[in-house]
Amino acid sequence: MGIVASAMSMSLDGYVTGPHVSRKNPLGEGGMVLHDWLGPTATAADQAVLQEMGDGAGAILMGRRSYDISVGDGGWGDGGPAGQVPCFVLTHNPPAEAPDVFTFVTDGIESAVKQAKAVAGDKTVGLHGATAPQQALAAGLLDEIHVHLVPVLLGGGVRLFDLLGGGPIALDRTRVVEAGSGVTHLRYQVVRQA
Ligand SMILES: NC(=O)c1ccc[n+]([C@@H]2O[C@H](COP(=O)([O-])OP(=O)(O)OC[C@H]3O[C@@H](n4cnc5c(N)ncnc54)[C@H](OP(=O)(O)O)[C@@H]3O)[C@@H](O)[C@H]2O)c1
Repeated sequence: MGIVASAMSMSLDGYVTGPHVSRKNPLGEGGMVLHDWLGPTATAADQAVLQEMGDGAGAILMGRRSYDISVGDGGWGDGGPAGQVPCFVLTHNPPAEAPDVFTFVTDGIESAVKQAKAVAGDKTVGLHGATAPQQALAAGLLDEIHVHLVPVLLGGGVRLFDLLGGGPIALDRTRVVEAGSGVTHLRYQVVRQA
């Protein structure tokens, strides 16, 4: 069985978007810098990380906000965030119509992770946005946290770990890739208490 891992580009002050996210500006004001390593400033090390992510992806899981701001023309076209990789979307109100690659889940994170893992098989379920990773962590369903740490302070926007509360969650750092772009690709394994 594959793993469940969040995969997010994050500023040094913990934001995965800048302020004022909109369909025109899915990563908020100034937030596009978070994804420069995927294109304009990509080095061989960044490209290797990206290739590995693409090859390993068996399913994507995210919240409805991520879906709404990027679905369709001007965003993902007729696919999802990873092309035709199946994508599960947590929502209270599924849309009437959507591209085939999307499945909408209204009965919570446990159900969504279970469905995504069944589809992904030996591959990774990648969690995008901020709410899905935090819910999966709280439910003990997240195996790894992958952070692409971008050397910028955004000063506002959506934080990756704002909603956790509760006690500390221990992590093992399992990989550090220092790319020439300035981005540090970090991997942590979530330590499960016996
Ligand atoms: N930096 C990066 O690498 C990166 C990567 C991907 C995305 N992003 C950005 O992250 C932002 C989105 O993240 P976000 O945390 O703001 O929102 P999100 O997780 O995409 O969506 C939150 C919404 O999902 C639905 N939802 C979440 N959990 C649910 C549950 N258990 N049951 C039912 N519905 C549930 C709710 O919508 P409803 O109640 O309306 O259904 C909720 O308001 C976007 O701006 C996107 O561009 C950044």
